[in-house]
Amino acid sequence: MTLLAPSLLSADFAQIAEQIGTVDAAGADWLHLDVMDGRFVPNITWGPKIIGDLRKLSKRVFDAHLMIVEPERYVDDFRNAGCDRITFHLEATPHAQRLLTRIRELGAKAGIAICPQTPVAMLADVIEDCDTVLVMSVNPGFGGQKFIERAFEKVRQARDLVDARNPQCLIEVDGGVGESNARALVDAGVDVLVMGSTIFGARAPGAELARIRALL
Ligand code: DX5
Ligand code: ZN
Repeated sequence: MTLLAPSLLSADFAQIAEQIGTVDAAGADWLHLDVMDGRFVPNITWGPKIIGDLRKLSKRVFDAHLMIVEPERYVDDFRNAGCDRITFHLEATPHAQRLLTRIRELGAKAGIAICPQTPVAMLADVIEDCDTVLVMSVNPGFGGQKFIERAFEKVRQARDLVDARNPQCLIEVDGGVGESNARALVDAGVDVLVMGSTIFGARAPGAELARIRALL
């Protein structure tokens, strides 16, 4: 079954308990938490303190997407804050294999994200150490951007790599995902659809989530 991961980046934080409650009740599988540092990406969001507070609001899987430089400095803090899955960018560290191992040692699922510029082939030597491959279908940093079509081919390539070498690894896609491409992305091999503006930009986020689920 395809997993749906609403991204809180597009949620209204003045009403965050209600917003999380709505997508929880509608059957969100994961809550996707975009951590941005103003260095790896040109935007700033939140850190472990906020995530630790949000943790009290939901029992769903917390899926942290670290868009930060030097991610190795912070994975322990994000794990302690209650993140179940921690995904960092391949472009942000020269020691991805070590960091994947560390995240697993902490008892979390370890993931690597790749920006639109990064070929899937760059994952070949670490795929066995990954629990998630996150294919970015926009340049990371902001919600509401246009989907980059090349991501379809990258998802297919990731599917082939994962099927051949680590079938348990999940393929996640993030950026510009919605009604127009969700079904096709699943057909291309995606396991987890991240959706920010599609869900939280809708008047009724829970109903929108259910509607996307029905389309699949
Ligand atoms: C963007 C983030 C995404 C963001 C996606 O850098 O990684 O998770 O929330 O937003 P949408 O779904 O609006 O493209
Ligand atoms: Zn994200």
